[in-house]
Amino acid sequence: MADELVNLTIDGVAVSVPKGTLVIEAAKQAGVLVPHYCYHPGLPVAGLCRMCLVDIEKAPKLQIACATQVAEGMVVRTQSPQAKSGRMGVLELLLINHPLDCPICDQAGECELQDFTFQEGRPATRYSPDYAKRFNPVEDFGPDVLYVPNRCILCTRCVRFMEDVAKEPVLNVSERGDRAYIGIHSEGRLDHPWAGNVVDLCPVGSLLSKDFLHKARAWELDKAASICTGCSQGCNVTLDTRENVVVRVRPRSNLEVNRYFICDHGRMNYRWMNRGDRIEAPLVRRGRGGELHATDWDEAFDLVTSRLRGAGGKAVALVSPKASTEALYFVRELFRGL
Ligand code: SF4
Ligand code: SF4
Ligand code: FES
Repeated sequence: MADELVNLTIDGVAVSVPKGTLVIEAAKQAGVLVPHYCYHPGLPVAGLCRMCLVDIEKAPKLQIACATQVAEGMVVRTQSPQAKSGRMGVLELLLINHPLDCPICDQAGECELQDFTFQEGRPATRYSPDYAKRFNPVEDFGPDVLYVPNRCILCTRCVRFMEDVAKEPVLNVSERGDRAYIGIHSEGRLDHPWAGNVVDLCPVGSLLSKDFLHKARAWELDKAASICTGCSQGCNVTLDTRENVVVRVRPRSNLEVNRYFICDHGRMNYRWMNRGDRIEAPLVRRGRGGELHATDWDEAFDLVTSRLRGAGGKAVALVSPKASTEALYFVRELFRGL
């Protein structure tokens, strides 16, 4: 049975979405990104950062878009003066204790705190520089994760990932109020095979990858969509390169394959791509025992096709299960025509 659709407007744009959809997801369909920190589509809803405050007609006060379900006829305004002022207040609160670390922070350039502050934060602070900011030392959480508590905005994405996705709840929120920080179990380490995902999930530069630490600034990176070849799962990834050198692998969402995550084996499986001894052009051998010569793809394909056709239907393909679905499909198509 088709999902029952609910009709609403978001910033004047009419959308129809399945019943039960969250306002923050419906907004995406209207082309509206509601600022948010704790919400992540791959994690249970926490509703605690209050960054996603929006104005909903007939509601007595601002509502959080990440925990409010759509209703028929709902009128949502993300840009009303009340909604903007509410979110500006949330940003101001988050920044009270936030250090001015951007010049040395790995997250700069892809930081949601920077972005939303630039978009709708206060142009200047109202707090006196006479009050010292909270300070806690950097902690080593695991083989590839550092925790910088001073930058933490306590969104708990990392805690929820370890609890609900990795099923190894080693992280927690310790202390309360402005003393709160992310604690790690006294006998635990962040060494789960998927632990690296907490670095991607962290909206700020609080959880950092040791492997990527200070390797590049975000704006120096080129990004290419790719497939992880670490195993036969074929997780969708983005390869970040700096001057044609792969420096980071991050998950690319595909709900059918890897949802929003990748394992640490795949994340670290990139150094071989930077080796200088990779074959960059097809090599062909002309005649038995002849030398290998670099050639272009047209000649290589012609040669392969004529040899396969000459095999009289007796050719066999051995293909790695680590190849992408697309590569496997092409092999099948190539052999189907023989
Ligand atoms: S977390 Fe974001 S805002 Fe904070 S120091 Fe890093 S880049 Fe700057
Ligand atoms: S470390 Fe990052 S993901 Fe974890 S609570 Fe702090 S800001 Fe959120
Ligand atoms: S994103 Fe909605 S409360 Fe945090």
